[in-house]
Amino acid sequence: MAETGLIHPDDIVKDEGKRDFIFLAAGAAGAVGAASIVWPLLAQMGKAADTLALASIEIDISKIAEGEQLRVLWRGAPVFVRHRTAAEIAEAESVDMGALPDPATDASRLIPGPDGALKPQYLVQVGVCTHFGCVPVGEAGDYDGWYCPCHGSHYDTSGRIRKGPAPRNLDIPPYEYLSDTVIKVG
Ligand code: FES
Repeated sequence: MAETGLIHPDDIVKDEGKRDFIFLAAGAAGAVGAASIVWPLLAQMGKAADTLALASIEIDISKIAEGEQLRVLWRGAPVFVRHRTAAEIAEAESVDMGALPDPATDASRLIPGPDGALKPQYLVQVGVCTHFGCVPVGEAGDYDGWYCPCHGSHYDTSGRIRKGPAPRNLDIPPYEYLSDTVIKVG
């Protein structure tokens, strides 16, 4: 049975000057390997790292400020939870499907909240480039979304591939809203 632990951004140490902050399950730093990783305070320190790596995770998204992204390690891969700005949403919604190598509306990349309505401000995706698996950088690239520096793939503000060798959009993990402010990934 999968273990579940609630992740709250208040428990996460933010990297000064950056709007992208990260939560990693204990013992899993090698999956990302960035020198700038900020270690979180883990509410679940008593749980085994391998259990956490396989767990479903619950994330309190209410404290992710507009324009910020939370990175959470889930099943060995980073998951990006971005609180998009109005400009990012408008940009994502205005794209001509014919311009997309892997056509998908922005709405198709979201899931409804408890009231049945989409919450376009929250975009949840697997933070792994669909080319060869590097971790893309946020707020970067030609389309204001994510940029993979390994071979130059550009993703837009909906995580859709727009330019470069990646064959498809960033993946959307299985997740659901448990309430207006908590999502469960996995
Ligand atoms: S792994 Fe991202 S562009 Fe190659």
